[in-house]
Amino acid sequence: VRERSLELAAPLSAEDQAIQSMPDASPTKWHLAHTTWFFETFVLAPHAPGYATFDPAFGFLFNSYYEAVGPRHARSERGLITRPDHDAVRSYRRHVDAALLDAIDAWDGESFALVEPLVELGLHHEQQHQELILMDIKHALSRNPLQPAYQPPRLHARADATPLAFHRFDGGLIEVGHDGVGFAFDNEGPRHRAFLEPFEIASRPVTCGEYLEFIADRGYERPEFWLADGWALVNRERWTAPLYWELRGHAWRVFTLSGSRALDPDEPVCHVSYYEADAFATWAGARLPTEAEWEHAANEAMGCPHTADAGHFHPRAGDGGGLIQMIGDVWEWTRSAYAAYPGFRPAAGAVGEYNGKFMSGQMVLRGGACVTPGDHIRPTYRNFFPPQARWAFSGMRLARDV
Ligand SMILES: [Fe+2]
Repeated sequence: VRERSLELAAPLSAEDQAIQSMPDASPTKWHLAHTTWFFETFVLAPHAPGYATFDPAFGFLFNSYYEAVGPRHARSERGLITRPDHDAVRSYRRHVDAALLDAIDAWDGESFALVEPLVELGLHHEQQHQELILMDIKHALSRNPLQPAYQPPRLHARADATPLAFHRFDGGLIEVGHDGVGFAFDNEGPRHRAFLEPFEIASRPVTCGEYLEFIADRGYERPEFWLADGWALVNRERWTAPLYWELRGHAWRVFTLSGSRALDPDEPVCHVSYYEADAFATWAGARLPTEAEWEHAANEAMGCPHTADAGHFHPRAGDGGGLIQMIGDVWEWTRSAYAAYPGFRPAAGAVGEYNGKFMSGQMVLRGGACVTPGDHIRPTYRNFFPPQARWAFSGMRLARDV
């Protein structure tokens, strides 16, 4: 996992890695340092006797949001940190990796049992930041008038979208949430009962072609489809299409990690806010699924136990249940507000700030995207963003009441 972060940074120059294009995004260099700080702060400092801190100033620079750990640098000014430079951050990573490997050798079984959950959390935390590296550098490069590519253009594998179908689920009293077998973030549990009215869910995500119909029907100009906050935002920001879409003449183009290319009407629409997803669903005579509906449909349709690991959770056309692209194409907005499950308790100590304190003002997304590490996603995984955010690889799947 640690090596993978450096591989993701490898195509980027030192200048690329220092830039911050908006307050929500962070420089690649900051991600590489912050994920290292996580291991230093939560594993090595408290649990490795004699550990020598690499640089005491780094705690201030690379603490993201942990109040219990102390004050920190302003998030919106991470791009102003030219020093420590690129090489110093690499040295920091090597220092912490070496110390952690030494500590793992030195811990006895009892000590290791205590730190193992923290090391595992640190690795999953780093995988979350690997996705953020790609989200954030895509945004930064998109703001360059030359529209540079993160990676060389790859042959874009065109495939026709499958016909849209709705699949019915009877609902009733069901169970959702992680059952504690294998890793999960604290916000995925406890597993609990939920009651669902009968519902239908779409066989695949909404495509760019379908979204173009919404635009052509003046979807961005008609308030009847929009939540009030969304309508205000559309007018304030003059949104006319998803983020990274650009109309050149009469042809839509889209900015990707491989640079600009023609929009593919058959691929899932991506980089829409919750407001746009909700407005599209209203226009289409449907709605977004709740997160419980999404998770229940995923488990039922795939015939997978809820503890299924991602390795056999890659539904494709023809799989049982007829639901495809549930995992790993685009994050799918749900209509569920991000809140605590019944019985949820944040973990003890500073890592209790990981998820719990963000449970207001955000909406849940499910399923993972093409930039999400493949072994990092589960049917119970709850991503969350504010409703106006659209730099995540976020799309949608429709649902309907029966
Ligand atoms: Fe983090």
